[in-house]
Amino acid sequence: MTSQGSGSNALWGSRFEGGPSDALVALSRSVHFDWRLANYDIAGTRAHIKSLLSAGYLTTAEHEKLDRSLVELQDRVNQGSFVAKQSDEDVHSALERGLIEIAGAELGGKVRAGRSRNDQIATLIRSYLRDQANVIATLVTDLVEVLVSRAEEHLGVAMPGRTHFQHAQPVQLSHHLLAHAWPLVRDLERLQDWLKRANLSPYGAGALAGNTLGLDPNIVARELGFVAPTQNSIDATASRDVVAEFSFIAALIGINLSRFAEEIIIWASAEFDYIKLHDAYSTGSSIMPQKKNPDIAELARGKAGRLIGDLTGLLATLKGLPLAYNRDLQEDKEPVFDAVDTLTVLLPAFTGMVATLEFNRNRLELLAPAGFSLATDVAEWLVKQRVPFRDAHEITGKLVSYCEQHNLELHEVPDAEMAAISTHLTPEVRDVLTVGGSIKARAGAGGTALPRVLDQIAALRKIAPKREA
Ligand code: ARG
Repeated sequence: MTSQGSGSNALWGSRFEGGPSDALVALSRSVHFDWRLANYDIAGTRAHIKSLLSAGYLTTAEHEKLDRSLVELQDRVNQGSFVAKQSDEDVHSALERGLIEIAGAELGGKVRAGRSRNDQIATLIRSYLRDQANVIATLVTDLVEVLVSRAEEHLGVAMPGRTHFQHAQPVQLSHHLLAHAWPLVRDLERLQDWLKRANLSPYGAGALAGNTLGLDPNIVARELGFVAPTQNSIDATASRDVVAEFSFIAALIGINLSRFAEEIIIWASAEFDYIKLHDAYSTGSSIMPQKKNPDIAELARGKAGRLIGDLTGLLATLKGLPLAYNRDLQEDKEPVFDAVDTLTVLLPAFTGMVATLEFNRNRLELLAPAGFSLATDVAEWLVKQRVPFRDAHEITGKLVSYCEQHNLELHEVPDAEMAAISTHLTPEVRDVLTVGGSIKARAGAGGTALPRVLDQIAALRKIAPKREA
């Protein structure tokens, strides 16, 4: 039997005859992962003692001594001279032990009045995720910035655009790169919107029903930088939708990286040869000396699966929990911590890889018109000659079929053969049978023509301003 639960530093235990079994202690213990919330716990306690002072449960002198002790404890935590012990159940118990070591049992023992670990933990996880949301948003913005810079650098380079992974219509490489920037911008917006719901303080909810001591929850909310306290103490302690929503955004960022990662992996193959990876952002093989592997992209693809797992694990934990706090909720932390750690290690590597990709311009431009990717331009040219689109589609289909039979590209079909397919196919159609012409023509909203790509760059630059070199 250990001291956890009944020993001098436990937060509970007086109504129990003996200490908890070692097996329970081992199962219950969370301090090895919730220790990362230590600074937030101390900040919460410093805010809490202000509300105890304001409600008359601490004298000014007591408050001052406690606050100094908490600052001292924070220093010790950050220097590593105060650490959790095997016998500490969680970050809250460990830090109460630390505070009592500094401030004494009598004064330190006053702090827990009017709060519960239930409202504490619900508050700390929000404080922590709020900071992590900022870190992740900065890293995502860095990637958006790099995508915009790479797009600016490659204006005018054509490449094959695909649907169903088949050649469809030529597009600008810049347009394609920016198509990966926009989902990330929406992820940034999602993080900002998430903050509206996360930025409320559960402190004061107590275990579930609120507090009897007349403590003002606005004090803690204000001290911790929350917009306001939460409205319902049961909801405040029992809900983790704020954590789930954060995990969803993290998973979506992973998915958005993974989609681009898949292309990078394919583009780096000998068959595609669209890109070369920089040595610093690719790896070799232990047996095949010639290999240069896109490991960052593969890890991005793999970690997207892991991030989805973090989200679905949490959702499964939350499903079916009755109100209010249940110990199951302790299982919210490791998955969301994993999501944070995964993105903070992945994003800088991914951004570095994208920043240093070398695009094979000649290859991209050579392949841009392949697979009859200008066929839509022929059909739309016919529409401009007032041919109904249904007929235009059919005429163009016949032209493609002729090309396939004679192993020709669209622009190689002689005038006479064109006329034989349809009298509408006059030699003027050749004007649109160039990649440059095709791209230029797509000047409608959101299109791949240069002015539209420049519009996007201007809009994205407001979100991700150019970096000083
Ligand atoms: N470690 C707990 C958690 O993460 C803290 C709250 C514990 N509350 C309790 N009544 N045992 O949820």
